Amino acid sequence: WSQSSLSVVVVGASGDLAKKKIFPALFALFYEGLLPPDFQLFGYARSKMTDEEFRDLIGNTLTCRIDARSRCEDSQAAFLSRCFYCPGQYDAPEGYANLDKKCKEQEALTGKMVANRMFFLSIPPNVFVQAAGGAADNCSSPTGWTRVIVEKPFGRDSASSAELGRGLARHLTEDQIYRIDHYLGKELIENLTVLRFSNLVFEPLWSRQYIRNVQVIFSEDFGTEGRGGYFDRYGIIRDVMQNHLLQIVALFAMEPPVSLDGEAIRNEKVKVLQSMSQVALEDVTLGQYRGRSGAGRSGGADLPGYLDDATVPKGSLCPTFAAIALHINNARWDGVPFLLKAGKALHTRGAEIRVQFRHVPGNIFKHKVGPNIDMTTNELVIRIQPRESIYLKINNKVPGLGMRLDTTKLDLVYNDAYSKELPDAYERLLLDVVNGDKRLFIRDDELEQAWNIFTPVLHEIERRKVAPELYPYGSRGPVGAHYLAAKYNVRWGDLT
Ligand code: BG6
Repeated sequence: WSQSSLSVVVVGASGDLAKKKIFPALFALFYEGLLPPDFQLFGYARSKMTDEEFRDLIGNTLTCRIDARSRCEDSQAAFLSRCFYCPGQYDAPEGYANLDKKCKEQEALTGKMVANRMFFLSIPPNVFVQAAGGAADNCSSPTGWTRVIVEKPFGRDSASSAELGRGLARHLTEDQIYRIDHYLGKELIENLTVLRFSNLVFEPLWSRQYIRNVQVIFSEDFGTEGRGGYFDRYGIIRDVMQNHLLQIVALFAMEPPVSLDGEAIRNEKVKVLQSMSQVALEDVTLGQYRGRSGAGRSGGADLPGYLDDATVPKGSLCPTFAAIALHINNARWDGVPFLLKAGKALHTRGAEIRVQFRHVPGNIFKHKVGPNIDMTTNELVIRIQPRESIYLKINNKVPGLGMRLDTTKLDLVYNDAYSKELPDAYERLLLDVVNGDKRLFIRDDELEQAWNIFTPVLHEIERRKVAPELYPYGSRGPVGAHYLAAKYNVRWGDLT
């Protein structure tokens, strides 16, 4: 660092992701002193803006969530003074050549011999390749490294993803590409490997011998409001399952890697993805939310259905909810269903992994169980968000005379156990890019495998025009999800 400066370029600087996630995350890293001292930020987008206007735009997105306000406010001013803007089209090489000039001017002022550059492509997928080409061919660092961060959607299926991959590969080496899946930057997902591989009490149980089923549940209590146009091209399976939830399963189910090295972990993830069957249509339930009048929280406003969004095509069959069963055909997981459920406009917001263990063979306490308690099996719950926590449901004697059992929790609630606020996923991931650590990024073969698992069923759903089951906004989703679980003798855990 002492010999180099860092220029971060956000392509698509006036977009939502940039404002909500990227700028605040960069500021948090800057505030914590985790970025090189000679750091500067360049915004690139189509709208005309001066540096000052850009600073105003960013200024509104920065929050002082950490300690002393005055220190934070001083730091904000210092951060903003390092922000610059360059207007340009995403597919125009001359725009990136102008950007290059602007970067060089500022980099020269730092007096450092080496100027590293990191690009975040926060733009629509149809201009990914041109933008990557523009950046790599006209604006890459002449003296240091150039790294390019891309975020899903990485295509819509195997073929389009491969085409995108070939497009990027014309301009960048695999080494330079950082494919973000922001779920991998979440604290409890990072902790999965620690939980498994550094606690003797878990890893020996982590197999078909002791685990009955695994559930990964993602639920949002809001619809696609404002994003209907984008969402309708993808649907919930492509939006969160083929990436976020599948990544969780891969980390959960992989064999122990030989080390913590990025390649070692990704090798294991690819192997477990290769062991998964392609999803079968009979293992899929789809849903779409419908509106409810007078059911909104504030003043009983109407809750709009998915099809009420003006940007969604009339009669769209796009699923906003899906439940699926995945099967891993290897020695560890043969016969253990991995059930994934994801939906928008449900009753609550949260994401959890639930591990249901097998029954205790010949349990001598079976008859001591109260009539309504589905006990006798332990359950490990990893609550990814909100109220991050890990708990293990155990059977326990109700204190007092006599012998009665109930189910209770051994629990670790992050808020109680740790005083430090958890970093946002983007903070961790952006810092990893600065440090060249690829552990939490998706490798090309991993992406290819993830699409192999889902592409046939996605095509079949579209070809057969499978109609999603309607569910009311704010409900627990379609009943079809329960039938799917019942097929595997499973009851969905309820988000806590
Ligand atoms: C994004 C999806 O990748 O993840 C969104 O495109 C979804 O539809 C979001 O809302 C959820 O992320 P988080 O971090 O809020 O759970």
